[in-house]
Amino acid sequence: MDTRVFHLEPGSSESASAYREVAALLSDGQLVALPTETVYGLAADAMNEHAVAEVFAVKERPHFDPLICHLPDARAIETIAEVPADVQKLVSRLAENFWPGPMTLILPRKSCVPDIVTSGLPTVACRVPQHEVMRGVAKVLGRPIAAPSANRFGHISPTSAAAVQKELGGRIPLIVDAGACSEGLESTILRPCLDEKGKPAVEILRQGPITVERIREICRVLKPTKAAQENPVAPGQLPSHYAPSKPLFLHDPKKDFTPQVGIRYGLISYRGDSPLAEQECWQHIISLSPGSGRLAEAAVRLFAVMRTMDEREDVDQIVAEELPETGLGRAMMDRLRRAAAANTLPNPA
Ligand code: TXA
Ligand code: MG
Repeated sequence: MDTRVFHLEPGSSESASAYREVAALLSDGQLVALPTETVYGLAADAMNEHAVAEVFAVKERPHFDPLICHLPDARAIETIAEVPADVQKLVSRLAENFWPGPMTLILPRKSCVPDIVTSGLPTVACRVPQHEVMRGVAKVLGRPIAAPSANRFGHISPTSAAAVQKELGGRIPLIVDAGACSEGLESTILRPCLDEKGKPAVEILRQGPITVERIREICRVLKPTKAAQENPVAPGQLPSHYAPSKPLFLHDPKKDFTPQVGIRYGLISYRGDSPLAEQECWQHIISLSPGSGRLAEAAVRLFAVMRTMDEREDVDQIVAEELPETGLGRAMMDRLRRAAAANTLPNPA
């Protein structure tokens, strides 16, 4: 299959007709890669189980890993989810503060949502993205769009149309290219619940661009229980994920690294000025946020930099500096740990 790439400037005069064209393809059961502010998604009409089955096939994704439904606005959650009365106010406040944006809420599902979307779970993942293209298409389609990240299962999520082309080129008819993603990390996944005193709270199922610090301004954040960590409620949170094809190791930027003879190493440095980056052993160094070090800049670049290192012919193995675990640093360390875990665990793909 030939994969067509369609360049689109969001908000331009062509966007309305482009949204109609994409919505028509989705209505017809086809798959289209669409940009969001976090990563590119592989979109299907969520109410068409054949199209959703094709998403799993194209991604080589196991069926136990459910998909996120993208909606045009917060009111549309009523079409697929039942918001329990005791968390209704909390859900409204989260929606007012973080939607449209990189937040996904796990809520009890309505029966109209096909089982294949939720992997048979009693809940459904709802997100109102910031990106005009995904939201615009969902509005024209008039149904939720099921869209996982547009990569093959276990691989690094794509933050550009070129990365989608490398992951899924030849497998899907169309990629809508609206430039690089502005956040660069997948959405924060929250499960509204009640704490031990019966007060509304949330559990963070996946760290992401909306940080725990910002969520705490709205409500209590419950610590995940040990059982939940060992048996994640977001089934896609496998220990090994986001993996480059080369081995990747995490290393303390203040400590010496001992290279093995005959192996050519690439370093992913945070600011490029650490004692680790000063060592002579690196074939190639890429800094996530050169100089001053800004976590937001590092987050936007992380997946693209991992890809670049993976593709370099002069690098055999990748060393990534541990990042400060505050704010966005938590979500980045979560992704890097999973990428590093691929060295010790069988690859999920
Ligand atoms: O930013 C994002 O969230 C991107 C863009 C495209 O929106 N999407 C994305 O989708 O990252 P995906 O499929 O790569 O990750 C979705 C995660 C998986 O870990 C899945 O297990 C979890 O959401 N999930 C989906 N439905 C769930 C549910 N009902 N309960 C718990 N976790 C769920
Ligand atoms: Mg993914």
